[in-house]
Parts: sequence; C-alpha cells; structure tokens
Amino acid sequence: MITVENLTKSYSRSHFALQNLSFQIIPHTFTAILGSSGAGKTTLLRCLLQLSRPDAGQVWFQGQNLTHCSALELRQARTQIATIAQQFNLVRRRTALENCLGGRLAELPLWRCLTNQFPKSLLREGLAALERVQLLEVAFQRADRLSGGQQQRVAIARALTQNARLLLADEPVASLDPETTHVVLRLLRSLCEQEGMTILCNLHQVELATQYSDRILGIQAGKLVLDVPAHQFRNADAALIYKS
Ligand SMILES: Nc1ncnc2c1ncn2[C@@H]1O[C@H](COP(=O)(O)OP(=O)(O)OP(=O)(O)O)[C@@H](O)[C@H]1O
Ligand SMILES: [Mg+2]
Repeated sequence: MITVENLTKSYSRSHFALQNLSFQIIPHTFTAILGSSGAGKTTLLRCLLQLSRPDAGQVWFQGQNLTHCSALELRQARTQIATIAQQFNLVRRRTALENCLGGRLAELPLWRCLTNQFPKSLLREGLAALERVQLLEVAFQRADRLSGGQQQRVAIARALTQNARLLLADEPVASLDPETTHVVLRLLRSLCEQEGMTILCNLHQVELATQYSDRILGIQAGKLVLDVPAHQFRNADAALIYKS
C-alpha cells in the first residue's frame, strides 16, 4: 500500500524533522506510530500526502511514486486517502451527512456543491456510512452540535463515503475521554478488519497502540527507531522511543 524510502525533511538547516525513514505498509493493516511530542509524526503523515514536500526520499502509494507525479495524479491519488485529525476537521455549520459527502465533492459539478443538491445515490452512500458508525440518527444535525466522539465518528464516516483505501489518522483520540477513545479505536480496528481499510495512526499512548494495532513504528527525533509487530512490543521499546 505504501513504501517509504529514505524520507528526509527539514524545516531549518540545523534540524531534521525526519531523517532517512524507510518502511512499508501492507494493505488491510493497522499501524500505530508512536513518538514523543516533536518527534516528527505529523510531518511524516504530511509528507506521505505530499502536503509537505520531503527534501529527499520517495513515497510510493499503490505502486505510484507520489514524490514525482503531476499535480493531477497527486489529486487523484489523494481521493483514495482519507485523513482524520485530533480536532475532527468538520465543517461546523454543515450537517453530519453533508460533512460525509465532503470527500466526494470533487466528482460533482459546481452547481450541485453550491446548491447542496446531491445525487440520491451519493446521499444513500453518506447515510450508509453514518449507519456504519452508528450515527444515522444525527445525520441532519449540524456538526458543531455533536459531541467530540460523535464528530470523530462523522469524520470516519466521511472517510468511508470517500471510499478511501488508506486512512491517515493524526492523534484521532487526543481530544476524547477514555471511554470514547475506545469506541473510536474499536471502530477504526473494525474498518481495517471488515472493510479492508489500511490505517496509519499517530498515537501518544503505548497501551492503545499495543491493544489496537498490528504493528508499531517508533519515531524518535525524526528517526525510525522501532518497527515491531504490536504483540512483540516490550517495555524496553518504549524507553527507546521516549528517551530524552
Ligand atoms: N511548519 C513547520 N515549520 C517549522 N518547523 C516545524 C513545522 N512543523 C513541524 N516543525 C518541527 O518539526 C518537528 C516535528 O514536528 P511534528 O509536528 O511532526 O511532531 P509530532 O511528532 O507530530 O509532535 P506532536 O506529538 O506534538 O504532535 C518539530 O521539531 C517541530 O517543531
Ligand atoms: Mg503531531
């Protein structure tokens, strides 16, 4: 699904945000990325999407080299990659359903987007995605009237409506209480197992990474210091990632 080769990114001459990262992500797996604040986790996801252009190295997505493709090819590749973030990134005044359709606007004529007149088939897909995350009952509520956990599940439903094959999640549970955290991570896990989605998820808690992921990548000061199956993760590995 993804191959990263020698990925390097610096924001200033003296400081590398990412240094020579190489790894591969197999389809239909849930990979957790652990690292302390400033380690480079967000930069990595941004470089995968080419929202931040790496200084060196390559990113391949489903066999396509994203580091060297045209703007149009990149736009097309991004339609298959969904993102969710700590702050949910929903359009606050839009309904849950309209937010779900947000990932598909590019394929609609402008007049439909401006007048909110979506094809029935697309509406059905959005509603099905909301049902999948058990939020059908709030489909017509504004996003800013929903709880944090509900908003994050709408963001996940948006990824489903987008038919994304890859989900990049940047600390998706950082703003949620412990119970809702497990609801959201269980949902992500089930998308991976039942819908075959590939998930790459930045996390801060080791216990969540070991409980929900298949594999753990550890980043320390921009370097990949750990790459292990989640069940093989040991306490000493945490020291490797979080050493000062
Ligand atoms: N736009 C930017 N301009 C300059 N430096 C940046 C920029 N974005 C990130 N950095 C620096 O790059 C390094 C990695 O930052 P990044 O945001 O990727 O870390 P992170 O692992 O996501 O941290 P956190 O857990 O706090 O979200 C940090 O030293 C940060 O200060
Ligand atoms: Mg971050």
